[in-house]
Amino acid sequence: MANTRERWDRDIDVLFSAEEIAARTAELGREITAHYEGKPVCVIGILKGCFLFLADIVRTIDLPISTEFIGISSYGNETESSGVVQITADLTRSIEGQDILIIEDIIDTGLTMRYLLDNLATRRPNSIKVCTLLHKPEGARVRVAIDWVGFEIPNKFVVGYGLDYAGRFRNLPYIGVYHGAT
Ligand code: IMP
Ligand code: MG
Repeated sequence: MANTRERWDRDIDVLFSAEEIAARTAELGREITAHYEGKPVCVIGILKGCFLFLADIVRTIDLPISTEFIGISSYGNETESSGVVQITADLTRSIEGQDILIIEDIIDTGLTMRYLLDNLATRRPNSIKVCTLLHKPEGARVRVAIDWVGFEIPNKFVVGYGLDYAGRFRNLPYIGVYHGAT
């Protein structure tokens, strides 16, 4: 019997396939491994969007890492960040004196990362570096130093591989531009 239902991801145009994401993630993992020269690193994932990228990149980092998560929600409508940020789930332990690597899915205005960097700095880590899978340079409203970027992308709303629109599409294995109603 023919399937008459439309695909649930029909409004999305593929930007990066699962294979492209995996290849770039492995490159980033090699660079990060080389940078820290065998030292222990505390990897902090920003929930929820990081969950797939973090799971994949930590397996390409050949270092004695620990993993922590921090939950952030930024107010605003679904496709624009307001910069008003709330911590919805905090770290489970002190990061004082540690080398911190933040893993983020996407940096757009930079407001979320700016807030997080300022907040984490008050906890006196030894260093903080940032790795983001995606970066929208045209969206920047504040300057944040980004140490590793997977892909720079145009100012379009993207979903998949952890990124959502109104809570949906995080489970897509690829990243694509969302053309549905926003
Ligand atoms: P920023 O504060 O504007 O840099 O936005 C950072 C957060 O906004 C990310 O952690 C995402 O949760 C969300 N975001 C920004 N752009 C997109 C997008 O294109 N798709 C999905 N989420 C996005
Ligand atoms: Mg989000």
